[in-house]
Amino acid sequence: MCGIVGYIGAQEATPILLDGLARLEYRGYDSAGVAVYSDGALKVAKAKGRLQVLSDMLQGGAAIHGQVGIGHTRWATHGAPSDINSHPQVSRSGKIAVVHNGIIENYSALKQFLISQGVPFTSQTDTEVVAQLIEYFYDGDLLQAVGRVLHRIEGAYALGILCADTPDQLIAVRRDSPLILGVGEGENFLASDVTAIIKHTREVIYMEDGEVAVLTREGIQCYNHFLQPVEKEAAHVDWEIDAAEKGGYEHFMFKEIMEQPEALRRAIFPRIKDGQVYLEDFGLSDDYIRDIRKIYIVACGSSYHVGMVGKYNLERILRLPVEVALASEFRYREPIVDGHTLVIMISQSGETLDTMAALREAKRLGGKILSIVNVVGSSIARESDVVLYTWAGPEIAVATTKAYSTQLAVLDLLGLHFAQRLGTMGKEAYDQIVQEMLLLPAKMEQVLENREDIQYYASQYFNHDSVFYIGRNLDYALGLEGSLKLKEISYIHSEAYASGELKHGTISLIEEGTLVVALATYSRLFEKAMSNVVEVKSRGADVLALTTEPHRKEMGKIANGLITIPETHPMLLPSLGVVPLQLFAYYVALMRGCDIDKPRNLAKSVTVE
Ligand code: AGP
Repeated sequence: MCGIVGYIGAQEATPILLDGLARLEYRGYDSAGVAVYSDGALKVAKAKGRLQVLSDMLQGGAAIHGQVGIGHTRWATHGAPSDINSHPQVSRSGKIAVVHNGIIENYSALKQFLISQGVPFTSQTDTEVVAQLIEYFYDGDLLQAVGRVLHRIEGAYALGILCADTPDQLIAVRRDSPLILGVGEGENFLASDVTAIIKHTREVIYMEDGEVAVLTREGIQCYNHFLQPVEKEAAHVDWEIDAAEKGGYEHFMFKEIMEQPEALRRAIFPRIKDGQVYLEDFGLSDDYIRDIRKIYIVACGSSYHVGMVGKYNLERILRLPVEVALASEFRYREPIVDGHTLVIMISQSGETLDTMAALREAKRLGGKILSIVNVVGSSIARESDVVLYTWAGPEIAVATTKAYSTQLAVLDLLGLHFAQRLGTMGKEAYDQIVQEMLLLPAKMEQVLENREDIQYYASQYFNHDSVFYIGRNLDYALGLEGSLKLKEISYIHSEAYASGELKHGTISLIEEGTLVVALATYSRLFEKAMSNVVEVKSRGADVLALTTEPHRKEMGKIANGLITIPETHPMLLPSLGVVPLQLFAYYVALMRGCDIDKPRNLAKSVTVE
């Protein structure tokens, strides 16, 4: 996903832009560039490849002097990664520069129109169309020209715009792609997310869809889609900057794995008081909750895997039908949603376009939207009826870890809260789970303390080119996440299978030396899990088993490798069981020399279809 940074103030802009872009590298990109107003004109520098290439070109920022500029890291969508397709894209006169996150859906028709008007194009990008169109309408009033363009372009876009005629201002535009404004003293900022500018200011304005902002040194004026002024309050960002830095760890992913106990404390402890679950600002009435006939959980990737665990847990304690849907499928299948349907959106970034589109479809059909999100003020959070934040803190690594485990915890808390209000759970059972939730961070610390065992197994298995994760019920849902972690950072092909399903076809793939990670934490089905281990071993598989401490001896007799986690309430097993699987994927990728924090082809938040 692309990254945007903009600055206007009294400091040199280029170093600020480069530093901001460096803090956005985690989003994934393949080229970078800046445009700075300098000596009466726009100076543009951009290059394919890593940000270091651009920084070297700019001598670390010393090569271009000026106090207003925009910068961009591009994740190619329209037009291959190349110097010419990098942003900023510039209008024909060179006076107007634009950086853009998102996709202009109707760029081709607009490009044809402009070409028919004699406008020459140099790149293959949709973004250049925006720059050329602004100039086409520009008659000395940049804001008006931008306003006219906004009524003609369709799609998702966050824009940063700089014009050589008006170097005392920057223009920001947001539609379906996040953009925030940083409020400083005699200086102001725009950026894709807080990480890029938090070292300069903690006062942040979250732009809404359709809004436009004009940034000057003196202040920020926001407008709606019709360019009518709107008043916006700045929010104070209170997380620490080192949360967005490695803090001595080799990778953000490992840092975030190790942060999980603390992240869980932030997600859980404020929501349990005197043994009862309390959910802040929870605007669902008893009548509404009693009238829920169906729950959807809609998400993508790891957030979808959280929903797969949630289905088992929520159906068990609420006795309500829970359907988990991939957001990219949900939005096109004419889902059955009405006023008695609660739709739970789960998203770390709160910006995943498929999930946002599914949210809007569910809302259009009359569903109530509850979202579980990590990024405060994100688009999905803002369009939901109820938001439960995971409070995991900024998650930088592309492969999610602490967001996944805190999403799980918040979903469990939601289930307990509903069960209490619906009366579907006895006091003893309720108290037991609540007690175990409070013990979860400490038990997770125990798992992390034994990470050398997992590192050992990774050293045994990192050369495999195919891995199976098998499990039943909650262990199957857990296996989905374990498999994705391995795939996305080590590039080893892997699949998760419901163990009972193996005999219906896939077991034909098991041969001498096939690595099977057998998940057997769910005690109720432990015997069956043991049978599945015997089943695959008899066909030559090499079995690495994950089970709970009480089952160590039994499983140790038949598995080739064994990892254990402390016993906990069944509902919470995936919250503990996921940690060894995250570590296994991390260590395997480390041993394979992979780019762990920025895996190939992936972005931290997928804001395109
Ligand atoms: C998980 O490690 C991946 N980065 C990816 O599957 C991710 O979970 C998915 O893109 C959803 O992102 P979201 O939670 O920000 O919506």
